[in-house]
Amino acid sequence: MHILVVNGSPKGKGNTYKVAKMLEEAMKKRECGIEFEYLHLRESDLKGCLGCYRCLADGEAYCPLQDNQMKIEAAMQQADAVIFATPVYVMNVSWLFKNFLDRFAYICHRPRFHGKKALVLSTTGALGTGIVNTICKYSVGSWGFETAVTLGAAISPGISQEDTAKQWIKIQKAADQAAEKFVMALKCKKVPKAGFFKLYAFRLQKAAFGNGDRLKADYNYWKEKGWLDPGCNFYIQVKINLITHTLANALADLKIKSYPKGVGDKH
Ligand SMILES: Cc1cc2nc3c(=O)[nH]c(=O)nc-3n(C[C@H](O)[C@H](O)[C@H](O)COP(=O)(O)O)c2cc1C
Repeated sequence: MHILVVNGSPKGKGNTYKVAKMLEEAMKKRECGIEFEYLHLRESDLKGCLGCYRCLADGEAYCPLQDNQMKIEAAMQQADAVIFATPVYVMNVSWLFKNFLDRFAYICHRPRFHGKKALVLSTTGALGTGIVNTICKYSVGSWGFETAVTLGAAISPGISQEDTAKQWIKIQKAADQAAEKFVMALKCKKVPKAGFFKLYAFRLQKAAFGNGDRLKADYNYWKEKGWLDPGCNFYIQVKINLITHTLANALADLKIKSYPKGVGDKH
């Protein structure tokens, strides 16, 4: 089994890498034959997104930036699972990690990682792992990844050496538990469930991309996948609760009707 770690730390081999290595050791102890590959965004040739919309509107092949974008996407495709790792920077992901998310924004429209599991890891000085892990989980979730485990670790500056050592012991324990849970999730072959948010998002995307006059790249992709077929309720085969599904669709339809308003802070 091949695990790719995407490390968004501008420092490279800092705290985030150290915790990822703990996960690697703990996973390897539980399951032989696991291989780890590290993609340090600091060393990767992934230029800053220009916001030109070419990838979204015309297709990713039209991105004007010449760099390793496609190689990085291929690395995610080839991996059996991905660990997304970032330090907390001002209650958010690092700029490197945000650029990584932005450069693959087209995958939010044209998802391709359904059936693939992820672990989301963030490290911090004190605060923010909850919010950052949520941001990461929803972002890579829109690419199709199912985040099976999240892990947040605080390595506090300005505390005594003794307390720092205690913190690392706690982090090691948490990494062991997270590794165990992730290994179990990777072995689990059950048909996944699609909850409210995922069904809601699918219905919104289906309405948005179902018109061949606009968003051509999205329309063609969705059409080819069969996701625009009237009977298609989700990207892949999933377990769907009928009540949740009916509610998600009703709310999505209301949302679609409210689009012309275009204002409000609840978007
Ligand atoms: C620019 C910058 C912003 C940071 N923002 C926060 C923050 O908002 N909250 C916090 O608790 N720690 C913050 N930190 C601390 C880092 O999240 C923490 O040291 C992290 O473990 C660094 O990981 P790394 O060594 O892998 O880069 C910040 C650090 C830097 C350099």
